Amino acid sequence: MSKPNNQKIIDYTGPERIFSGVQPTGDLHLGNYLGALKKFADLQHDYECVFCIVDLHAITVWQDPKTLADQTRQIASAYLAAGVDPKKAIIYPQSTVLAHTELAWYFNCVARVGWLSRMTQFKEKSGKNAEAMSVGLYDYPVLQAADILAFKATHVPVGEDQKQHLELSRDIAQKFNHDFNAPGFFPLPEPLIKGPGARVMSLRDGTKKMSKSDPSDKSRINLTDDADTIAKKIRKAKSDAGEIPATLSEMEGRPELKNLVSIYSAFSGLSDQEVLTKYEGKGFGVFKPALADLSVETMHPITARMNNFLANPDEVDKILAKGAEDAANIAAPIVAEVRKIIGFWGA
Ligand code: AMP
Ligand code: TRP
Repeated sequence: MSKPNNQKIIDYTGPERIFSGVQPTGDLHLGNYLGALKKFADLQHDYECVFCIVDLHAITVWQDPKTLADQTRQIASAYLAAGVDPKKAIIYPQSTVLAHTELAWYFNCVARVGWLSRMTQFKEKSGKNAEAMSVGLYDYPVLQAADILAFKATHVPVGEDQKQHLELSRDIAQKFNHDFNAPGFFPLPEPLIKGPGARVMSLRDGTKKMSKSDPSDKSRINLTDDADTIAKKIRKAKSDAGEIPATLSEMEGRPELKNLVSIYSAFSGLSDQEVLTKYEGKGFGVFKPALADLSVETMHPITARMNNFLANPDEVDKILAKGAEDAANIAAPIVAEVRKIIGFWGA
């Protein structure tokens, strides 16, 4: 993983720290793996890393109390299967560390209504029903800022869809530092988005992002899919009648081709151009089976490891309990300082 850009962590002199989170809702897919989990596993070798399962974010829409804890174990299992090592990185459920909700309240009083009203993800998720959504769903990005800044995290590996939320986190950090005359207290966290998996598109429509909420299961590769299913979904992925071109510019206007090439590139470590050079002039009849093989080769071991962890929930629970303790030990003193800075009695 290349060295993160430090330009914008203005005035902050504390250590570099990575924080990210995934919601325990629905099956994870290839987009989550390439956009998030794979980066987590890469970064843990070079940085102090904190990886959260954001169950407080999950309940901004209804979650069945009977399954929420299992959904949390499932994401933890996916982190572990993707290669996150609990000896190197902290893995824990958000609801176990009270610093998140406490700091979110303070940030509610820093963030402006106008800032939140510009968040495109809320608009996408609520559609024409904004009035009927929970206040939590609207406030979701403020809690996300609290997640990151409760750890004074400097870098946040996420998919491209989280860019706007990260900008909001920086605005909140900056306004807090400014309003309370505490220059450099919070870093201005930088997203780590680059890479071939930053925006994996649907296998049925190359203009739509691969998503848990797409009604068609064929649009995504789930981390729980078996080898046959993965191969079938890739072979049946939407494509066009053309051949694989020689140059990147010839991929313009061919979103499905672009998506499949970038998936190939993420799996193989080749650049998009190298993938084109390898398959130039060949049809999808050649390219898709090759991609199917490569996908199975990469994804199948992860699925197998994930199933292994799912079959051993006690082991996962131990990791989460230890992670919760370690996470609280970092976040509690930071939030205690925030109380002092705000000027609360007894702080
Ligand atoms: P979510 O499942 O929405 O909680 O997303 C978890 C992580 O996966 C976040 O970092 C997202 O940005 C990332 N992610 C979700 N969908 C995609 C996608 N289609 N391509 C790349 N990254 C994604
Ligand atoms: N909003 C993120 C998503 O939907 C999940 C998330 C919550 C997160 N808190 C975070 C990601 C903090 C990075 C850092 O994918």
